[in-house]
Amino acid sequence: SEHGCLSVIVLGASGDLAKKKTFPALFHLFAQGFLQSGEVHIFGYARSNLSDDGLRERIRGYLKGASEEHLSEFLQHIKYVSGSYDSGEGFEKLNKEVSEYEMSNKSESSRRLFYLALPPSVYPSVCKMIRTYCMNPSGWTRVIVEKPFGKDLDSAEELSAQLGELFDENQLYRIDHYLGKELVQNLLVLRFANRLFLPLWNRDNIDNIQIVFREDFGTDGRGGYFDQYGIIRDIIQNHLLQVFCLVAMEKPVSLKPEHIRDEKVKVLQSVNPIKHDEVVLGQYEGYKDDPTVPDDSNTPTFASVVLRVHNERWEGVPFILKAGKALSSRKAEVRVQFKDVPGDIFRCKKQGRNEFVIRLQPSEAMYMKLTVKKPGLEMATEQSELDLSYGMRYQNVKIPEAYERLILDTIRGDQQHFVRRDELKAAWQIFTPLLHDIDAGRLKAIPYQPGSRGPKEADELSSRVGYVQTHGYIWIPPTLA
Ligand code: BG6
Repeated sequence: SEHGCLSVIVLGASGDLAKKKTFPALFHLFAQGFLQSGEVHIFGYARSNLSDDGLRERIRGYLKGASEEHLSEFLQHIKYVSGSYDSGEGFEKLNKEVSEYEMSNKSESSRRLFYLALPPSVYPSVCKMIRTYCMNPSGWTRVIVEKPFGKDLDSAEELSAQLGELFDENQLYRIDHYLGKELVQNLLVLRFANRLFLPLWNRDNIDNIQIVFREDFGTDGRGGYFDQYGIIRDIIQNHLLQVFCLVAMEKPVSLKPEHIRDEKVKVLQSVNPIKHDEVVLGQYEGYKDDPTVPDDSNTPTFASVVLRVHNERWEGVPFILKAGKALSSRKAEVRVQFKDVPGDIFRCKKQGRNEFVIRLQPSEAMYMKLTVKKPGLEMATEQSELDLSYGMRYQNVKIPEAYERLILDTIRGDQQHFVRRDELKAAWQIFTPLLHDIDAGRLKAIPYQPGSRGPKEADELSSRVGYVQTHGYIWIPPTLA
């Protein structure tokens, strides 16, 4: 091929992330022809003593959605190499395997993609090993890393500095998988390709914006990890903040990844310090029953945090970032609530506000809540919606998985949907003071019932800063007849 052969090296190949996300994403790319036989080889690396077939058996059950034929063909391209994460021996062996494959492939140049499906504590040593033993002599070497990138500003900066000494910024791909979601990627298009939104997207028209993540399960089996981080580091500081950037940033100069990321950094730097009375923390009852969670843990499994952007567009508009585990439902959405209509002549009944909702998952959709005349003889109003539900509108389209897209971007060298170093720093700057206060017990998590909406104090906070709930109206995702 014109680009040369491709080796994808999955480090931490026997772990959870690799099994559930990395290998399935590679498989889907393969099944769709983006990774081609004769051009790609996949190497799994981990400490466990496994044979090639041993690894194949482990991941087979997670690879779905294509034919058996594709599956066995794909599995044949996977090799396993075992070794430790901090000794040269294993990485020398890995390099030998990769080089042999490259040699046998006989293409002029080659590409090496390292995917670190590992805990961040080993990033520095693993990166050092890659740098020392496994660099590609005849083409690019790229490294994908996963959050958590540190625990606060200082630790994140330290990690960035360590990796920065080993790789150039254009070799490092910091994944935030929310940036790979279809409707997250659509935000840029929606905002800047529609005349309808351009003049409305500001403090003159918008009252408040919510960015919400809910899960209807707890920390099942991940309590040990989770307790060290909490919901702000797990979801808000990364996933929701990335969505926030795309909703709030100014128009980039062009679609070049650096132009887009420049704007994201700017808006992050415009965020005011978070005020304690604009934060509600929660912890679901039963969270501490997990034996790996300490009995006196104050780690939040729920948080609602108001961000305020100090710039001309957003002064006075609260951005409510809310995330919780063990709630009543699973969904993620952006909800843009507009101001009331001035001089309303339909005042017999208080009108609901216009809202533009971008539903990231499940049942991807965008809908706009409007007031319309209630059909019938009487002149009455009601709330309805303009609805673009993907399941209806794009019936034959399969929406790609976030990881699929992001791995493909890495192969193509497109860093638009990855977090740049200064962006990461700005993100930690926003949350670090709050996180330190929580860690020191200066802010307490309020208990809430699993399966509920979270602490009622969070709803009170939302309405205090301006969100008006429309009672008696609920949008139901349409289903095909
Ligand atoms: C991960 C978090 O980054 O995102 C998990 O660590 C969370 O706690 C997951 O469950 C949610 O991802 P998605 O794509 O299912 O919304």
